[in-house]
Amino acid sequence: MKNIIEINKKIRSFKKKINVDGDKSLSIRWALLASQAEGKSKAYNLLKSEDVASTLNCLKKLGVKINYKKKFCEIHGKGLNSYIYKKKLSLNAGNSGTLGRLILGLLINTKEKIEITGDKSLSKRDFSRVTLPLEKFGAKFYYKKKNKLPLKIHGSEYLKGINYLENKGSAQCKSSIMFAALNASGTTSIKAKKSRNHSELLFKYLNIPIKIKKTQKYDFIDIKRPKKIKAFNYKIPGDISSSAFFMALTILTDNSELLIKDINVNPSRSGIITILKKMGAKILLKNLKNYRGERISDILIQSSKNLKAINCPAGLNSSAIDEFLIIFLVAARAKGISYFKDISELNQKESPRLTLGSKILNMMGVKTKLTKNSIKIYGQPDLKIKKLIIIKNYLKDHRIFMMSTIAALTCGGKWKIYDKNSIDTSFPSFLKIIQKIKKKSNEI
Ligand code: S3P
Repeated sequence: MKNIIEINKKIRSFKKKINVDGDKSLSIRWALLASQAEGKSKAYNLLKSEDVASTLNCLKKLGVKINYKKKFCEIHGKGLNSYIYKKKLSLNAGNSGTLGRLILGLLINTKEKIEITGDKSLSKRDFSRVTLPLEKFGAKFYYKKKNKLPLKIHGSEYLKGINYLENKGSAQCKSSIMFAALNASGTTSIKAKKSRNHSELLFKYLNIPIKIKKTQKYDFIDIKRPKKIKAFNYKIPGDISSSAFFMALTILTDNSELLIKDINVNPSRSGIITILKKMGAKILLKNLKNYRGERISDILIQSSKNLKAINCPAGLNSSAIDEFLIIFLVAARAKGISYFKDISELNQKESPRLTLGSKILNMMGVKTKLTKNSIKIYGQPDLKIKKLIIIKNYLKDHRIFMMSTIAALTCGGKWKIYDKNSIDTSFPSFLKIIQKIKKKSNEI
């Protein structure tokens, strides 16, 4: 099958109801924590993607028994400190920064050196942000190339809790330290710039000793080693980062309406909703409920004419960190000049998204002003693309593929977008859902 998609027609108006795939952050965290719990844990609606498959493969190599049935995934945890560390073990984190960084926290007591590898994209990303704090616990790290994968970790039996300032607003870094604290003596204290809080909510739900004090910019987190972690079942909600592409599709298509069911709208993840609403988008949350500390809701979106530019408050960055590419596309169709600042972290993702996002807008004929840390987007509400646009060589970043597809379906022009399989890392159903939305019948 061709690994390329060609689009040369805008999508027609639609009124549809959809589900998106399970939340990636929660799927990976569930699997890692279940592997340290005692007994059988089950997850329903676990994301069936390459990043999660890499997680399960790494755990299997560490001696964890996993059963993947049609409706659920079952992990037979043997408790804290129960991984089997074989000699010359090599674990492949594939494309997943979350897996590569979080699993290191759980490996800090390995007596054997373990190698962690990743794909081309992950091997370009910085790992010192987790190996620096993990070294403070007592683990040792060996790099071939400075701060990049492949690396080797050699753990220690004598792990002591640490004090750490996490100043990047990285949930991966914070969570890696939190996972390491599960095996360290004493208290681990993290002063963490705000970022997604799924690990904290799971720790609370699992009765792991955790105390959190919140201020506007930082969370102060204290963790003590638990005696054990109980096995736990979890129903993974839909991923807001996947929904984001369909929010934009609806907003930018005339006379359309979309209901997205059962999405995790945890405030530390739902910055996109705040940002799009500030730009004039019509978005409504329905059937809001709590699930183990997370907030789950249906999201109703309508087409929005008269979008206005935004001077995006930097305080919203961490809660929308994975959504900026698609937010940039909406800004390209808003009236006025949008401004996004303090977003250099975007260039630390699966691809340098700040640079590539700007480049794609330029290819579409939209003017941008780019610095290392910010972007201005000169919106064109009536943008109509007539030329051929080819998107390739973007390190197979799934979100570049999906942003480009939504741009093609809403702004016109002829598009050839390479590396279609990139969606398999986070959102394998993406193109199937577009086909469903294209079908003529109205569902709401
Ligand atoms: C994630 C945290 C974010 C995000 C990534 C998933 C997580 O990365 O971009 O897609 O599940 O913890 P950073 O922690 O590096 O910001």
